[in-house]
This record gives sequence, C-alpha cells and structure tokens, in this order.
Amino acid sequence: MLSLQDSLDIINREIQAIQYPKNPAGLYEPIAYLLALKGKKIRPAFTLLACNLYRDEVDAAIRPALAWEIFHNFTLMHDDVMDRADLRRGQPTVHKKWNENVAILSGDAMLILSYIFMTESVTENLKPLLNLFSQTATEICEGQQYDMEFEQRPDVSEQEYIEMIRLKTAVMLGASLKSGAIIGGADEKDAQNIYDFGLNLGIAFQIKDDLLDVYGNPDVFGKKTGGDILCNKKTYLLINALNRADKTDKAKLLKWLECGDKPRKKIIAVRNLYDQLAVPEKANEAILFFYEKALTAFQAVLVDEDRKRILKNIAKNLMEREF
Ligand code: IPE
Ligand code: IPE
Ligand code: MG
Ligand code: MG
Ligand code: MG
Repeated sequence: MLSLQDSLDIINREIQAIQYPKNPAGLYEPIAYLLALKGKKIRPAFTLLACNLYRDEVDAAIRPALAWEIFHNFTLMHDDVMDRADLRRGQPTVHKKWNENVAILSGDAMLILSYIFMTESVTENLKPLLNLFSQTATEICEGQQYDMEFEQRPDVSEQEYIEMIRLKTAVMLGASLKSGAIIGGADEKDAQNIYDFGLNLGIAFQIKDDLLDVYGNPDVFGKKTGGDILCNKKTYLLINALNRADKTDKAKLLKWLECGDKPRKKIIAVRNLYDQLAVPEKANEAILFFYEKALTAFQAVLVDEDRKRILKNIAKNLMEREF
C-alpha cells in the first residue's frame, strides 16, 4: 500500500524527469519553473491513492496523475494573471517574472501537455477518462468566469458562491480521485462516491483558501494575503460579512468595495469588519460542514477501512492546513 510520501516521491521524481524541448526557451522555461515550485501536489496524489484503493500496482495511474498536476498549474498560471497576483508558492508568478503574454502562451502549452499526459499510457477506459478530464476542464473555465464576474457584483448569494467554487476548485479534486478509481477498476457507484468525497472536500478546501487569503501567514501560505480583498472577490468571508452586517457596517463594507486605492488600509479595515462580525468562525463552521459531507460520501466507498485511512488522513490535514 502506498503512503502519501510514496506517492509524492513518485510524482516529484516524474515531474523532474519531464524533458521539455529546448526552444523556444521563453515557452518552456516558465512551465518548468512553475512545476518545480513547491506545491502540495494533492491532485496527483489523489489519483495514485484512489487507484491504490483498488490495486497494488499503480503504474497506469502515474501519467494521468501528472496530467492533473500539469493541468492544475496551467490554471494557476492564468489565474494569477486574472487575479493580479505577484506571488505563488513564495516565488514571483510567471507573468511577474516574465510577462503576461508568456503566462498566456506557456499556460496554453501546459493545457496541451496535460492532454498528452492523460492519454499517454492509458489503454483501458481511455474514453471515460478523457470525458471526465474535458468535462472538468470546461467546468473550471465556467467557475473562473463566475469568479471574475462576481468581482463586479455586490449581491452574490452564498448559493451562487458555492456553485462558483464547486466549478473552479472542487470538481478537480473530485475528478483527480475519480480518474484514479477508474484506472484502478472501481465500479461506477464507488467511482461516484469517491468523486463526491473529493467534491465536498474541494468546497471545504476553497473556503479554507479564502480564509487563509485573509488570515494566513504569507511566509507559510506562499501567496500575498489580502489579494482577495483588493480584487473585491466574493469570497465566503465577504458574502457572509455582507449578510451579517447591520446597516452601518454594510455601508462601510460597500464603501471599501468602491475603493481602488489605499490597499493597506482597505485590507486592514475589511479584515477588522470580518473579525467584528465573527466571519472566520462562520467560515470554519462551513469548512466542517462540507468536510463532514465529504466523509459521509467516502464512508459509502466499499473498500477496506484500512486502505481508506490514508485518504481520510489527507482530508483531515487539508482542513487543518496553514498553506
Ligand atoms: C491553489 O491550489 C488553488 C486553489 C484551488 C485554492 P493549491 O492550494 O492546491 O495549490 P498548490 O498546488 O499546493 O500550490
Ligand atoms: C483557484 O482560485 C481556482 C483556480 C485556480 C482554478 P483562487 O484564485 O482562490 O486560487 P489562488 O488563491 O490564487 O491559489
Ligand atoms: Mg482566482
Ligand atoms: Mg488566484
Ligand atoms: Mg485563493
């Protein structure tokens, strides 16, 4: 049985072994750069570990696992342009180190590379895997579009927010797990329950990311905190602050949403309002709610409890993470 560390060792070894064409360096260097930065690699680990629920030999899942990590990094490369973010994993984002055109095109090349990896070694079940991959990729674009549109709207509901993060974040956690289960030979019911485990975990994961974007330690989190506040992102925190605020506080929040300068003041003022309105506590309750939903779905997976323990531990650690 693979441990988390075993699966990370495989993934890191394989990422390091990727051979990129030498030219044009301006296309390939940013790809190698981003993939070499220290990410958590949870998606590829999920693929390997979900496969390992059903079989000891996980070789067939390695290229698809890497496909998810490459795809995920492609979304980050573009996301950082869209979110005006300077830092990723504690290092300059690709569009800061190079420029935006580089981030667009290297990102495009990564998307293509992820398809190459997804199809490279799989012989059985290729069609369902590709359908899952394409559907997930499309949903992520939809989620990212909502995320951007919501920046301009002060009236986003919690329900709209949950749907947006289901699309932009949660489906990839669900699908990376499900792809491993399919390769491992899971039946459809198990594959669906594993997907639902990842999906609900992914919703909790994104709410935690929203929380860390305000309250995290930037040195540990690896991203600049306050970025969501400056972009007027309709995060779980902002939506709940707007819902819980009385007239005066709501007016203050709406005034800060209008404010495009004074970034430091804006971050501090909005964070103080979150504190006053007990928004972090509310976010932690929501994280727990979706985490428990995830565990219920995982309980329905018909695999030995012993084999399921590793994924359960990872889920727990993700909820408690500081980065
Ligand atoms: C960042 O994902 C994007 C979100 C969905 C919040 P991760 O937090 O998994 O990023 P890395 O890959 O570990 O850096
Ligand atoms: C992540 O959303 C979603 C995707 C990249 C698809 P965020 O914009 O919150 O992710 P971070 O915080 O930049 O990692
Ligand atoms: Mg974003
Ligand atoms: Mg972002
Ligand atoms: Mg974020």
